[in-house]
Amino acid sequence: MSEGLVTVSYIGATILFILTLGGLSNQETARRGNIYGIVGMTLAIVATVFGPAVSGITSYIIIAVMMGAGAAVGIILARKVEMTQMPELVAILHSLVGLAAVLVGYVSFMGDSGTYTGVEKVIHEVEIYVGILIGAVTFSGSVIAFGKLSGKIGGNPLLLPARHWLNLGLLLITIWLGSWFLSAAEAHSASAFIPLIFMTIIALAFGVHMVMAIGGADMPVVVSMLNSYSGWAASATGFMLSNDLLIVVGALVGSSGAILSYIMCRAMNRNFISVIAGGFGTTSGGSSGGDEEQGEIQAIETDEVAQILSDASEVMIIPGYGMAVAQAQHTVNEITQSLRKKGVNVRFGIHPVAGRMPGHMNVLLAEAKVPYDIVFEMDEINEDFPDIDVSVVIGANDIVNPSAQEDPNSPIAGMPVLECWKGKTTVVLKRSMATGYAGVQNPLFFKENTRMYFGDAKESLDSLLKAIQSD
Ligand code: TAP
Repeated sequence: MSEGLVTVSYIGATILFILTLGGLSNQETARRGNIYGIVGMTLAIVATVFGPAVSGITSYIIIAVMMGAGAAVGIILARKVEMTQMPELVAILHSLVGLAAVLVGYVSFMGDSGTYTGVEKVIHEVEIYVGILIGAVTFSGSVIAFGKLSGKIGGNPLLLPARHWLNLGLLLITIWLGSWFLSAAEAHSASAFIPLIFMTIIALAFGVHMVMAIGGADMPVVVSMLNSYSGWAASATGFMLSNDLLIVVGALVGSSGAILSYIMCRAMNRNFISVIAGGFGTTSGGSSGGDEEQGEIQAIETDEVAQILSDASEVMIIPGYGMAVAQAQHTVNEITQSLRKKGVNVRFGIHPVAGRMPGHMNVLLAEAKVPYDIVFEMDEINEDFPDIDVSVVIGANDIVNPSAQEDPNSPIAGMPVLECWKGKTTVVLKRSMATGYAGVQNPLFFKENTRMYFGDAKESLDSLLKAIQSD
């Protein structure tokens, strides 16, 4: 493949990736966006493998075997993974991008025998140093995020004493090691490996510390932030390999991840820097900070729920993580259709951090073919609750917790929530009185106009559907 053809392919792939991001921003065009991404990536791989950059390599068999092995693992994982495990999968995949940046950095440094001279050499060494730094933070941070999201590591924040000073100290040592590395590399001294290895260890420790310090309810920000880091790590790899496409694609992922982190922070009413520095979601000194119960609850049975839903004119469905666990989205759609046939106006209220990954609920509802025009973002419908007859909370907890507004000591204090308690009746579907991801009890369950409909969401909704249809 000639250099010109590779350049054209790279430009084509870049345009396709931009179209991908545009497509993914809307549910109706998301599928098309995905297809653009697949085509763009295929083009990019073909152009890179057969382009001049690797044409000196005769080991196409090795490339084919490695790609085949990677594809096989990817296909097996994608087939096996449950929708609820998606966030962990994304986290662990981010870690691979970080690991790749670290490995490419070391290989680039070891293989650099006189390709670059003068200023170019210094720039290349800075690229290597920064690339390994970002890659190592992304790698260890993502591994810890994987552990936290999959429940292998506890959700509580680990707060070391004087942690901010510790982080500042690590940053200063990293800068000092960087100058040591540059001068040793300039002198072609093998001792340049010493600062490089120390910096890698510090960056790995920093990644662990950063994510360990973040408390339960703030995890959405970490997920999107590591998404952004993985983009910058890929971009750094692109600089090291002088691959323009990788630089551009990395920057696209990095900046879209940064925008997503900003949106997540806004959704949770958090300051981005404060979340990263750790410390939010940490104080639970308030009265509702623990998981103690707070009064009497009122349970409800299937027939009664079917009755109040059939009698209602305005119904708001609020899905949460439990709907994903129970895989109840298809039954939710059937209930929605049945109620709509009876003349009930059914809408969905989606909290930006419902579930365990950005857009989690939208994906599930789209899969179940719930019409897009009845699915609303929190900001669009939060003021409508006083006019709602019945809110149906399906496996959601933190996102409908009034203590976020009422209790300044709550770990989720200040996080905007769906104000369903302002409606006439709220029916909450969950299996027990267990807390949600943030680990705090929910005063909503004890309110006078709340009814607890206990059971697995799928089983409860299946019997509810039957009751509504036979009504
Ligand atoms: P949660 O607060 O985690 O509550 C989910 C509830 O679903 C639980 O209380 C659980 O109660 C119930 N549940 C679980 N399995 C169920 C089943 N099979 N049937 C019925 N109910 C079931 O979820 P949420 O309200 O969606 O809030 C999301 C939380 O996750 C927030 O704190 C958010 O910060 C955090 N988070 C979000 C993300 C992103 S990016 N969205 C990432 C990481 C963390 P029972 O056990 O009693 O059934």
